[in-house]
Amino acid sequence: MADTRRVEKVWKSKPTIEGAGVHLRRAFGFDEVPQLDPFLLLDDFRSNEPTEYQRGFPWHPHRGMETITYVLAGEVEHGDSLGNRGIGAGDVQWMTAGSGIIHQEMPKGDSQGRMGGFQLWANLPASHKMMDPRYQEVKRDDIPVAEAAGGARVRVISGEVAGVRGPVGEIVTDPTYLDVSLPAGRTFAHAVKPTHTVFAYVIEGAGRFDPERGPCGNHTLVVYGPGDTVAVSTEEQPVRFLMVAGRPLEEPVAWQGPVVMNTQAELRVAFREYEQGTFVKHARR
Ligand code: FE2
Repeated sequence: MADTRRVEKVWKSKPTIEGAGVHLRRAFGFDEVPQLDPFLLLDDFRSNEPTEYQRGFPWHPHRGMETITYVLAGEVEHGDSLGNRGIGAGDVQWMTAGSGIIHQEMPKGDSQGRMGGFQLWANLPASHKMMDPRYQEVKRDDIPVAEAAGGARVRVISGEVAGVRGPVGEIVTDPTYLDVSLPAGRTFAHAVKPTHTVFAYVIEGAGRFDPERGPCGNHTLVVYGPGDTVAVSTEEQPVRFLMVAGRPLEEPVAWQGPVVMNTQAELRVAFREYEQGTFVKHARR
């Protein structure tokens, strides 16, 4: 019999300023470590106001972690030390920084000035922090849509729903990343690994993530407790949410800006190498 996960915590993402002056909402970050292990941060950069996002995130390094960028509207112009470019509406870029990349991320709105998307950070275990950097870039049309029992339409970026597997794979933390749209008056039930951390982030409408709690709406982060299934129900409104799961690492986290290692000494090495121009270990293209 299914052991349905209960919601342990719920909170709203908070306005913050990042990069060169990008106004965004942070669902979780440094202060929440290790509650969402292996995940480190989730930023929501939906905005209809170009002055809130167009300053972007100029050149900066990453090491020891992964950034997962999912764009809903507009485009993120991307330049990096491997030669990768551009994330369009509906696309996903799963960037494994590993030993280190240097990149810039510049949001560009659509013709109406709308920008929309999310960036999730996932940690890498000590054994993989210095792996070769790798990108998995998936275009909108290559993300399959699963029709789940109960009527949910699910864009499957990573993981599996109703026999449909997402295109992103071979990630150390075995992640699931779903974009779930559930019509009014329906239920979405999804099996999750009992050992995994599971959270949801609501992006439209409202739904019940636990039968004993009230409906959760836009900007709400929902953190699940233990169990092997999650169940989300709607009443009179539909809901759209991201659902993410992954294997916790249970390792020490030493985190400074865009570099996430296990020890302070490793952080010092990373920033010294960045200053000295020896940060990037892979061949430039
Ligand atoms: Fe970045």
